[in-house]
Amino acid sequence: MSQLCEQILKHLEKHDKVNTLSLCNILGEDHQKIVGALKNHEANIYNAVPESGVIQMDLMKLPNAKIGFSKAMSAGWIQVDKTAAPPLVKRKALTIVDIVQEHLKKIALGDSSKLSDKDKQEYKKRKLIQEVTIKSFNLTKGSDFKVTLDKLETDLTTEMLTSGHWQNLKFKEYNFGALGTFLECGYLHPLLKIFLEMGFSEMPTNNYIENSFWNFDTLFQPQQHPARDAHDTFFISDPKLSTKFPQDYLERVKKVHSKGGYGSQGYGYDWKIEEAQKNLLRTHTTAVSARMLYKIAQLKEFKPVKLFSIDKVFRNETLDATHLAEFYQVEGVIADYNLTLGDLIGVFAEFFKKLGITQLDFKPAYNPYTEPSMEIFCFHPGLGKWIEIGNSGIFRPEMLLPMGLPEDVCVIAWGLSLERPTMIKYGFNNIRDLVGPKVDLEMVQRSPICRLNK
Ligand code: PHE
Repeated sequence: MSQLCEQILKHLEKHDKVNTLSLCNILGEDHQKIVGALKNHEANIYNAVPESGVIQMDLMKLPNAKIGFSKAMSAGWIQVDKTAAPPLVKRKALTIVDIVQEHLKKIALGDSSKLSDKDKQEYKKRKLIQEVTIKSFNLTKGSDFKVTLDKLETDLTTEMLTSGHWQNLKFKEYNFGALGTFLECGYLHPLLKIFLEMGFSEMPTNNYIENSFWNFDTLFQPQQHPARDAHDTFFISDPKLSTKFPQDYLERVKKVHSKGGYGSQGYGYDWKIEEAQKNLLRTHTTAVSARMLYKIAQLKEFKPVKLFSIDKVFRNETLDATHLAEFYQVEGVIADYNLTLGDLIGVFAEFFKKLGITQLDFKPAYNPYTEPSMEIFCFHPGLGKWIEIGNSGIFRPEMLLPMGLPEDVCVIAWGLSLERPTMIKYGFNNIRDLVGPKVDLEMVQRSPICRLNK
């Protein structure tokens, strides 16, 4: 085999370019054998190294040199002389036994029994072999063996009973192992499954009514921030105010806003409890994340967590084709040591891959509670454009440290729209075709429960 390889190399030296089929005639060899010799990467490399050595750069120009070189090195067949300039590759072993070639020959004859799993995996990876499973059955005669087939009855009818005909019939046995038909009942939402699969647990989002303290102040959102205006937020008139807050924590929040601390200058304004007390319909599920993180900070020992929620939020929006006053948010929070923006991007990549979306992009953004912050975009092939689907970032120390979380704990978080990607998926141009009183109920019935692309 190594001879054949040398013959091919010699031919190539003279002709620069050659097709393996034409080599059959030139060398008088079988095509399979020629291709085999070429794929025999490490032996090719070894054979291309003359006694006196060869310049490493030149050797690496050969086909499949990278894999061949590394395999021949680890087999101890060749060595690199780095003292020479340029570095030379020299033979180390006097002769080689080309195990790969021997294995492949055996396999070609149909015997793969001696091949270890490790070798098998490697040859598969190198595309030298392909594994095919063939199932066969051994047939023997059973106790009721016959050469004709009787059709077994599956239903006992009234007619069979009244005529007594049933006595002459053979009935099919019950198959207690058969799977039942699928029940027409509730199933786990696909998004829920994805999060559970990724090791997240669900946050309790069962409070649409929140107060400004948890919705804004705990998130280091200053009290003059435009989002806290009645133009953007639905405030509750009855009951208008909340009264119960964790007092020490409230003091720390007040201080970080007005005077700073934890390495921050704060905003330097007069923080008022009256503003924090105002009840509202939560404008984001990040209020729930804040409550959860505060709760975690009160535990004796910090343990890393991954949390998610999918629930409604409310904003005082002018309704149009792409805006509703109440919509769903998909929220995620990961608290752990040493998290980076790279982790955040990695989580999105994994999450959206499960939804069949692989083209993602990120844009720097601003949130009072995250630094850095990123907007998330995904490419919609149908529309041929990038669509904004959410916002994310690393929570600021001004938010986390007053809660009492350890200084070296890092929290990455995000909030995604649920309706936007759904509109894209179902091809709706108007969000009111998807949510609200104008929804076509037949469309709801016709839509499959799960629209995920595998
Ligand atoms: N709360 C943000 C929004 O409503 C989303 C977000 C959550 C951003 C968590 C950063 C971190 O758009």
